Amino acid sequence: MDSITFRSDTVLSDVHMYTPNIRHLMVRLNAVGQPVFVSKFRILRNINVCSKDDIGDLGNEENRELVGVNNASTSRVDCSNTMANEKKDEEKKETAATEILLDDDGDLDVPRRPSDFVNSCEKDLWREKVYPTIISKGEEVPFEEYDEDWSICNDIRIEHTMDTTLEDVGKQIWRGAFLLADYILNNTYLFRGSTVLELGAGTGLTSIVMATVAKTIFCTDVGEDLMNMCERNIIVNKHIYGAAGGEIKVRELDWLRDDLCTDTKNPYCWSEEEIAHLYDYTNVLLAADVFYDDDLTDAFFQTMYRILSNLKNRSITYLSVEKRLNFTLRKMDVTCDAYDHFRLCLADLESINDGKTKFIVEAIKLTFPQFLFYERVEQLELWKIIAEPLISNTQQ
Ligand SMILES: C[S@@+](CC[C@H](N)C(=O)[O-])C[C@H]1O[C@@H](n2cnc3c(N)ncnc32)[C@H](O)[C@@H]1O
Repeated sequence: MDSITFRSDTVLSDVHMYTPNIRHLMVRLNAVGQPVFVSKFRILRNINVCSKDDIGDLGNEENRELVGVNNASTSRVDCSNTMANEKKDEEKKETAATEILLDDDGDLDVPRRPSDFVNSCEKDLWREKVYPTIISKGEEVPFEEYDEDWSICNDIRIEHTMDTTLEDVGKQIWRGAFLLADYILNNTYLFRGSTVLELGAGTGLTSIVMATVAKTIFCTDVGEDLMNMCERNIIVNKHIYGAAGGEIKVRELDWLRDDLCTDTKNPYCWSEEEIAHLYDYTNVLLAADVFYDDDLTDAFFQTMYRILSNLKNRSITYLSVEKRLNFTLRKMDVTCDAYDHFRLCLADLESINDGKTKFIVEAIKLTFPQFLFYERVEQLELWKIIAEPLISNTQQ
């Protein structure tokens, strides 16, 4: 394979589009022959406790490394000298980006976007070719073969594909996943010891971050191939959440089905104990960027309603959404139909008066700082749904 082709019937997440190409290195083909890439995302862990004194002088190379951002590289690929030089240039750019972390008073000031970000993105739009080491089609690389000592740091390492058809969008990382992860990292006290259900988890990034504070996370999606990728990401990032003791279980949860899969032939099926645990203990639900198709949005809300109204306890659901504006000939205007439909579904949910559960919907202000490096565009939104059981679900 000489070059990667980006076809017009596929979509590419902004997360991958705007990150300089050098950081995205293909490591293998997955079981269905799609190129798999690895990206690393650094958690700026001490952000809410950091002052200039905490992190020292950012002019000092070592200290800058401590607060480095998205410093992604992978050594599986045989880098030529040119690539090594390009990497150094990239690292210089990243260093420059961290220099604006302090404001005039010396307080930490996390940038939404480095000053040269747009320019560098424009330069990257033509996408350099990446010359990967292809293992062999369908062959999974053992985790030990990753030869960098990345596991001791705050980097989340995510395997993903680049451009995909709509059916496979879960194999990419979307900005909504970062936004939710950011909210979790900013509000850890809300989630400590929780049992969490993530719907449409994709690559698993948000569940991985959630596991740094919560106790049990059911990380769910559909499609064996996607879930294999998700499971790999969860195993390979144990260093991020292992010490906290959070447990992530990858399970199938298809919004187009009324029940949870218990067929033991499916590697991601639920056991009876897990189903009981889900309904007895879940107090947090998450979904990042799952509202892009009206039929799926309807199916999602039906699934969520069914689950929420059967939980024993009060729960809070956090939903991230990105308004994607399109010009349509039908309306001769810029519209955002998928988002409008999502808002209708939220309003419908809030108006439900079934005598079993009361739903309260609130928008969350995005004023919290960024622990992760991504573009927090104004089209990103975060919503919360409080579900209050009116009668004990054990009596139903
Ligand atoms: C745009 S991706 C978001 C993935 C991830 N949450 C993120 O933000 O990176 C939408 C996700 O919804 C999932 N999805 C689509 N249809 C689904 C269904 N019927 N049941 C469960 N998940 C579904 C996809 O597999 C995909 O992972």
